[in-house]
Amino acid sequence: MLNIIKTNSEQQFNETGAGIIASLLQTNPKAILGLATGSTPVGVYEKLIELYRAGTVSFKQASSYNLDEYIGLPTDHPESYRRFMDEKLFNQVDIDLNNTHVPLGNTADPEQAARDYARLLDGAGQIDLQLLGVGHNGHIGFNEPGEELQGPPHVVKLEEQTRVANARFFNSIDEVPTHALTMGIGSILKAKQILLMAKGEDKADIIAQALNGPITTQCPASLLQTHSNVVVVVDPGAGRHL
Ligand code: F6R
Repeated sequence: MLNIIKTNSEQQFNETGAGIIASLLQTNPKAILGLATGSTPVGVYEKLIELYRAGTVSFKQASSYNLDEYIGLPTDHPESYRRFMDEKLFNQVDIDLNNTHVPLGNTADPEQAARDYARLLDGAGQIDLQLLGVGHNGHIGFNEPGEELQGPPHVVKLEEQTRVANARFFNSIDEVPTHALTMGIGSILKAKQILLMAKGEDKADIIAQALNGPITTQCPASLLQTHSNVVVVVDPGAGRHL
């Protein structure tokens, strides 16, 4: 079932996303969270930090598994997803860092790291809530459009469009890694609930295509239509065609 929540402002967008995660933690303090990076969830994490500081929410017993990580960046590189998560959320709330997991991209053997992440996820049990952003090409995690999609965590070659979109965080496009490690579509669809968030007019077309268009590997986010519990939160820009 798709439940679409159209918000009226960026503030409401962030509060709605954070509210859904906070309610889960309040009813299930041991919740297993699937987390995302990118610009979409930044304000959601800021709001969660506020709620934590106000004593409304605690991450003490929670654990987390991130969607993806670049291959080849040192773990402490400013753009590594591990560093992003530490700075934007983990170091500012009471989560036990030992319970936070980001795929290991800084390794000589990424294929092994993908298998290790698959084993880790299998042992973790079902993710209670998987937070997702969406790429302009419909990717979720780094599952890029194509003839086929993979289920388990795997190594991907990033599309040029994705590298260009992410170059804004680097000094130049040449510094953007060419490969990443990502949860597969199978890993994502196993979550009990999915929270898909999109903001900005530049996401309006792809979010409409993902939710109302055909289910196709050419738009990986469209596979979310097959999941039984998806909440979609959009801001006025991204929700224009919904
Ligand atoms: C990030 C991720 C990506 C982003 C997507 C949108 O962990 O998996 O799929 O969610 O690229 O990125 P933003 O939010 O920067 O528009």
